[in-house]
Amino acid sequence: MLTIALAKGRLAEKAMERFAAIGYDCSEIHDKKSRKLIFENSEKKVKFFLAKPGDVPTYVEYGAADLGVAGKDTLLEENRDLYEVYDFGFGKCHLAVAGPENLSIHRNGLRVATKYPAIAADYFENQGITIELIRLGGSIELAPIVGLSDVIVDIVETGSTLAENGLVVLEEICHLSARLIVNRVSMKLEHERIADIIRRLKKG
Ligand code: PRP
Repeated sequence: MLTIALAKGRLAEKAMERFAAIGYDCSEIHDKKSRKLIFENSEKKVKFFLAKPGDVPTYVEYGAADLGVAGKDTLLEENRDLYEVYDFGFGKCHLAVAGPENLSIHRNGLRVATKYPAIAADYFENQGITIELIRLGGSIELAPIVGLSDVIVDIVETGSTLAENGLVVLEEICHLSARLIVNRVSMKLEHERIADIIRRLKKG
């Protein structure tokens, strides 16, 4: 059995479509009412499970999953020991520093709210700016509006959450998309099978 971890939420459905297109289907996974976490296709000898996006690289690094689909944001934040082998090309968005228009981010003591503390710390450190990091779990756009932080570091997809809350992108950090990741040991032990999956995903 090959085990594949999928990031629950926006990426899981598209990832399943791509796997189904190469014959790795699992109809059970589409049942939205189900609370089941693991789905098996015994004929294809493959098992899928849904995990919190930030946990997918952890499952793959430890070998609890051979493969995983995760956003590049998660991979940068978690910085796990694994192979990143393929860019699916969906889930495209970018990471940005955002805040009120005209705010200068180039000053020490800037308060930055984010659910990506490692990425944010790295980004500002590289620019020689000392920041105060405020870690949040979601709805990050709230922070500068209610005076919790000066700016945020967050994902921007369509830009509508920022616009509807009177915020703008102040600096772009990097582009993101969904990636296929592989456990280092699985890559050796299951090389033929995994290489075949990557080849077929690339062909589409
Ligand atoms: C993400 C992100 C932004 C929003 C960006 O939040 O944190 O809030 O999407 O998308 P947009 O540019 O298309 O408006 P998500 O919906 O994942 O929820 P969260 O706020 O709970 O993290």
